[in-house]
Amino acid sequence: MDFSAQSNISFIKQKIDDLEKITDQDNPYTRIVFSKKFYEARSWLKNEYQKLGLIVSTDDAGNLIGLLKSKTNTEKVVIIGSHIDTVPSGGRFDGIAGVVAALCVVKHIKENDINLPFNLAVYDYLGEELNDWSISCIGTRGMIGALNEEILSRTNSSGEILKEEIDKIGGKSNLLTKPFSIIENIVACLELHIEQGKVLEQKNIDIGIVRSIPSISRFSVEVNGQAGHSGTILMDQRADALVTSSEIITFVNKLALRLSKESNQHFVSTIGKINVLPNAAAIIPGKVEMTIDLRASSKSSRDQYIKELEKHIETMNQSGPCKIKMKNIAFAPYVEMDKELVKLFKVSSDEYGFSNIIMDSGAGHDTAHLSRVAPASMIFVPCMDGLSHCPEEYAEISDISKGTAVLFKMVEKLARSNLN
Ligand code: GLV
Ligand code: MN
Ligand code: MN
Repeated sequence: MDFSAQSNISFIKQKIDDLEKITDQDNPYTRIVFSKKFYEARSWLKNEYQKLGLIVSTDDAGNLIGLLKSKTNTEKVVIIGSHIDTVPSGGRFDGIAGVVAALCVVKHIKENDINLPFNLAVYDYLGEELNDWSISCIGTRGMIGALNEEILSRTNSSGEILKEEIDKIGGKSNLLTKPFSIIENIVACLELHIEQGKVLEQKNIDIGIVRSIPSISRFSVEVNGQAGHSGTILMDQRADALVTSSEIITFVNKLALRLSKESNQHFVSTIGKINVLPNAAAIIPGKVEMTIDLRASSKSSRDQYIKELEKHIETMNQSGPCKIKMKNIAFAPYVEMDKELVKLFKVSSDEYGFSNIIMDSGAGHDTAHLSRVAPASMIFVPCMDGLSHCPEEYAEISDISKGTAVLFKMVEKLARSNLN
């Protein structure tokens, strides 16, 4: 079945162009989960599902599903999913490429009247990106029962409660603390995503077949000093929360740099979110709130990082002018993708003659959560200069369509394999 037909390539381009327009106009490309633009994009997607003749539903975790039912009576399901929410001023392809690829696979299956021995479900996983409630992957965490009351009750900076937002979009936040029953019937969870790094582009490779996804930990850090007059309080009498924070930022960066070299595995840490209070030029900063983001493929390096950071903070608390509190607010463990699915992705890519490599992901993905309870695997396609989570993010349509072809071949192979 020829997947490279111009109609598929044009379809992918058209859908990416459509979604690109649904953005906060002043801040392209922004479609934050639960925002007005996010709801608009969900209506667009619902319409796309309907045009393809899919059965549309929203599950208890707020994931938007388009279901192609098998003509054979079965509960088995293959899920192809990604996300249509973005980070602020994020890109046009992160998550979007995967949802559009899934739509294109379904279109091709329908047009060629292919009957599958399992149901095929396209998922827009709810809120994959880290949000103001300090939690990412809401939809997939919900599916596997990994959202607890503390997380669901969190309030964002506008006073909105996470569980109420999930309910508004069609979920049932009171049913999210145990794994969904669909999990028992999952044959495979598949995801296409842009790489968000430079490996494929630099090696000139078409397809990255993901072997592992690193652990992600997030910590909130609160530094309490004393606000005061910037003109009158002398330098040796200050408890400047921002100055103390800058020491933590530098320490975190140096520690991560050292451990990344020592561990020889993926290890990165970032402080990208910081809130200075009261944030006024003539006032000594009295309080700072920051979020530390840590990604690690090695458990021992992660443990070492936390141990050294906690010790450093303890020392600063004893000897410095400010009081520092650090709290773990999110965790997703290191996971490996299903080995059979990785092999099958490789065969699917080889059959098209696409160059490919097995690689480790640097970013987090919904597939990481699903892989904890069901067979799961994903592929990457190249993106320009490895840029992502910024407006410059770009991927060639021809590269996305190669990945989409591999995704289709994978579904075809699963239909004929003994994995279903
Ligand atoms: C997902 O976007 C991540 O932060 O890795
Ligand atoms: Mn993504
Ligand atoms: Mn992202």
